[in-house]
Amino acid sequence: MESKVSKIGVLTSGGDAPGMNAAIRAVVRTGIYYGLDVFGIMRGYTGMIENDIFRMESKSVANIIQRGGTILKTARCKEFFEPEGRKKAYENLKRLGINGLVVIGGDGSFRGAQKFSTEFDIPCIGLPGTIDKDMAGTDFTIGFDTAVNTAISAIDKIRDTADAHDRLFIIEVMGRDSGYIALHSGIGTGAENILIPEYKTNIEEVVERLQEKEKRKKLVNLLVVAEGDEFGGANEVAKAIKARMPNADIKVCILGHIQRGGAPSSIDRLIASRLGYAAVECLIKGDKVNTMIGVVNNHLHYTPLNEAVKETQTIDPEWLKIVKILAS
Ligand code: F6P
Repeated sequence: MESKVSKIGVLTSGGDAPGMNAAIRAVVRTGIYYGLDVFGIMRGYTGMIENDIFRMESKSVANIIQRGGTILKTARCKEFFEPEGRKKAYENLKRLGINGLVVIGGDGSFRGAQKFSTEFDIPCIGLPGTIDKDMAGTDFTIGFDTAVNTAISAIDKIRDTADAHDRLFIIEVMGRDSGYIALHSGIGTGAENILIPEYKTNIEEVVERLQEKEKRKKLVNLLVVAEGDEFGGANEVAKAIKARMPNADIKVCILGHIQRGGAPSSIDRLIASRLGYAAVECLIKGDKVNTMIGVVNNHLHYTPLNEAVKETQTIDPEWLKIVKILAS
């Protein structure tokens, strides 16, 4: 088969996510297997604009599959959203002869890739890499499973001390626009309730449930709040509850960036490896380019970049019902 590309670039962009390194490794090793030259682009689109680009060998990606973060570093690059910035980036790629691009990142990164691919003759493949899982067209995003497992292991520890003191803990997890980490970690730890940006929370109802539990002497309760919920995070939720239950012993714990780091889980390593391989195959064949490759029902799924940036995943409201029933 004749390859449509000869030199490809790979970059990571937006918030880092565990498994990005495994994806970079897969792109590099698959590219080299097929005889391509593979270039690493540092700090996302910033490196493309500043020509911070280097040739990668098979050994450049040795010993990284188990590491969190990204060896290519990452950035959120405002300049790439301006036509001038994209032109500079294109000229740098053109000078090096790069004729295919793999972008590992979230929806912001794909917005950039989508614009770039319509303006210039360099096909792009997006691989969903974000702990937030806020992307349609894939059942998983690289990093989500690890982040949820990190949150779960932290919340389990919180439950031990909550239980010892009979306390209400309000735990904030990441997710500026997405409640997936809150939903999965909340269900996985038996949270009393989850508060997420996708749905409005009736705080009076939350308080009524806590009061009813208090009567039953069920005093250990965990509320998991996504950072982007309507109240503005766990501290604000705590204030709202304290105002209605002044005697409650309430503690707040914000898990923060620990959710972004650490060794990727087996699922994240697997998805990242599979998607990295698929991205190169796509560029070589040239038939499904300018798409985001995801996994749906365990099959590779290709979503055109212009659709991938429009749609977000929705959370079925039945999940909130399940949380409440199981915690009653
Ligand atoms: O996009 C992933 C994410 O971790 C969000 O959940 C969070 O709101 C954001 O990144 C934080 O970004 P930063 O580290 O740049 O503050």
